[in-house]
This record gives sequence, structure tokens and C-alpha cells, in this order.
Amino acid sequence: MSDRETWATRVGFILAAVGSAVGLGNIWQFPFKTSTNGGAAFVFVYLLAAFLIGLPAILGEFVVGRRAKRNAIEAFERIDHPAWTVIGALGLFTGMWILSYYSVVGGWVLRYVLGSATGAYFGNPGDYFASVSVGADAVAFHAVFMALTAGIVAFGIEDGIEKATKVMVPSVLAILAGLAVYAFTLDGASAAYGYYLSPDFGYLLDNLGNIVPFAVSQAFFSLSLGMGAMITYSSYIDEDQSLPADGSTIVVLNTFVGLLAGLVVLPLLFVQFGSVPEGASGGGPGALFVSVATAFGNLGMAGRVVGLVFFFVVLIAALSSAISLLEVVTSYVVDKYGYDRKVAAFGFGGVLFLVGTLAAGDTAWLGWFDTIAYKFLLPVSVLLAVYFVGWVLGPVALDELEKGTDDISTFAPAWLWMIRTFVLAAVLATLLLGVNTLYEMPALPSF
Ligand code: PFF
Repeated sequence: MSDRETWATRVGFILAAVGSAVGLGNIWQFPFKTSTNGGAAFVFVYLLAAFLIGLPAILGEFVVGRRAKRNAIEAFERIDHPAWTVIGALGLFTGMWILSYYSVVGGWVLRYVLGSATGAYFGNPGDYFASVSVGADAVAFHAVFMALTAGIVAFGIEDGIEKATKVMVPSVLAILAGLAVYAFTLDGASAAYGYYLSPDFGYLLDNLGNIVPFAVSQAFFSLSLGMGAMITYSSYIDEDQSLPADGSTIVVLNTFVGLLAGLVVLPLLFVQFGSVPEGASGGGPGALFVSVATAFGNLGMAGRVVGLVFFFVVLIAALSSAISLLEVVTSYVVDKYGYDRKVAAFGFGGVLFLVGTLAAGDTAWLGWFDTIAYKFLLPVSVLLAVYFVGWVLGPVALDELEKGTDDISTFAPAWLWMIRTFVLAAVLATLLLGVNTLYEMPALPSF
């Protein structure tokens, strides 16, 4: 397809991929998964997972995408392995599954941007969250968030996604850094740094079986792996671009933003509560909203400004991730069936909106969708992709990885070896440990 779009600039791709990676996973989930999984011990395993498993795996997806120059489903036919289309299909399914409830949380964030401006949640953050997180409010803001996502995707790669993320990603970095400095100046922040940054290895060893699968799945979610997003985005990359260089930049930036978010959220919590609060405000889906909002509320007028800025940043980070999920299915039907991009984006956005109304109606549904994604869909999807790249593509993958690079004759074989052995085994272990605890899933609400 000679008329297929590509990224206008190298930075365009990196920013779009970082835009996809950096989102609610970093700012909403990461600090709180950290706080409910032992603090620094979790951070430690997460860092290992991001660099030793996430980086090799993201390069695997890039290899497939750029080789095929096609959407995540047809990519496998293009590179002469039609039987493996199942990987693309599962990725697409996983991405749509996640987007349906991701958009609900995106809607909460939008609500909190407005709530910060008016100080609406200051009086009683817990009650406020309870009233806006489910029901009519949640559905309405979920609708607006999904419509914004579809609107950007409708404009296409260069005019929509590339232009939007060029503005979004640098602003996210700048504003989060500013807030981290602000949090640093607060009395009582130092306790948070201890909790967040110095790992308790005894705790880690005792809880390895829980912490490891969580941390690995968190790295997949955060790096947008196993959802076709990185295959799709890398299908628009030119051959003179170095995949290892781009991949490392993306993993470093994504990890940095997660750590930075922790440096904002955890000190705010410690200043407010003197520790990480237990229960609903400590770890559930309302964690960020209730706890951080309480901290902002205590700051009075200044809290309105800090809160507004904070939730606005979270909103743009969430949007730039959501568009990458919707782009997976949109690019598929545009490439394959010649659908009009706008019709496809709004059509699928509409369907996912309907699915997401379940999560918007009851946070138990949200938890259920999220648990299945973490414990099952993400690890299976990444496992298949890693197996395919390592053992089926093998030398072809190496050839593609080396394009556009200077000399990576040591790195490339080491990468393939990692993918074939360590990464594969670690993802398999994550899947088995996750499935093994699926029975702990939150009970499903009845209709
Ligand atoms: N990586 C995003 C985040 O951390 O919020 C979420 C996400 C976006 C997951 C795109 C998957 C994806 F394809």
C-alpha cells in the first residue's frame, strides 16, 4: 500500500508511543498498586519487569508491526504466518475489553477536572466519589471521554494522533514534575519517600507469588503491550529508524512518568493520612480520587488550582492512551474493508461505550473487567506474541530489528535469546500465577 500513512517525524512516533504508554496505568494504577503491594518492594520488581521483560517484548511487537506495515490483525498474514493472526485478534479483543472500562475512569477524571475548579469534592471526597463514580454522572462523562477519543482517531495518524500527542506528552511531563516538586516541599513528605523508595526484601520474598505477576502485568498494561497498539503504531515507522533506540526511549520515559506519579501521589497521601490509608481509599478504583482529592481539599483555595492542574494532566495522559486502543480496531477496518475512518472510529467508540456502561453502573464490574485483563488476557496475549517472535519468526525478527541501526551485532542475538528463554518463561509464570488466583476475583454484581 503505497498510500499508507507514516509518522511525519521520528519524534512523532516516539511521542505517540509514549502517549499510548503513559496513562491511567502510570498515574492512577501504579502509585496505588504500589501502595497495596508493599511499597518499594513492588517498585523494585516493577522496574526489573519493565526493563527485562517489557523492553524485549515491546521490541518484539515493533518487529512485527514494522515488518508487516499493516494493522495488528493482518500483520500476521502479511509476514506469511496467517495461522498466527490469532495473536492480533486476541490483542484487538484485549484492547477493546480494556478501553471499555478505561473510558469510564477517563470520565471520572474529566468530572474531577470540573470538580476541582468548583471545589465540589472538597467537603467530603468519599461521598463525592461515590456519587459521581457510578450512575448517570459516570455514564455521561464516560460518553464524553469516548467521544473525544473517537474524535481524535477520526482525524487519522498525522493530523490527529501525531499532532495531539506532540502537545500532550511534553505537558504531562512538565506538569507532573512541577507537582512532584510541590509535593516535596510539604512537611511530612519524607516518610513517603522511605516507603516508596527503600524496598523491604523480607516482605518481597514472603509475597513473591503475588507481587511478581502483578508487577509484570502492570508493566504490560503500562507499556501498552499485548493489545495490538504497539504493533499498529510501529507499522507506520520508517525502516531507517532504530527500533532498539526508540524502544528504550519509550520504556525509560514511561517508567519515569510512573515513578514521578508516585512522587506526587504518595507524599500527598502521607501528608494527609500519615501513612498509606487502608481500605477503599487505599487500594480500590477510588484510591486516586478519594485520597488525593482529600489532600487537595485540605489545601483550600490553592487546592483548587493544584487539583485542576493535576486532573487535567491525568486527563490528557488518559486520552493519548485511549486513542491508541481505538486506533487498533479502526486501522484494521480501514485497511481491510476500506471503511471510512470517521465512521469506524465513532462506530466502535459507540459500541465500547455501551459495553462500558456496565462498569459505569457498578464499580464491581469495573474490577471484574480489570482483573480478567490483568490475570488472564494480558499475559496470554503477550505470551503468544513473545513465543511467535522468538520461535516462529526467529532470524527474520533479528533481520528486522537490525534495520536502521548502526551496529547491534551483540545486542540483537542477546535480545533473541532473552525472548526465547527468560522472557517466555517469565510471562508463562505470570500467566500461571495469575490464573491460579482468578478465583479471588471480586464477585459479580447481579442485575
Ligand atoms: N498504557 C496505558 C496506560 O498505562 O494507561 C493503557 C493502555 C493504552 C493500555 C493502550 C493498552 C493500550 F493498548
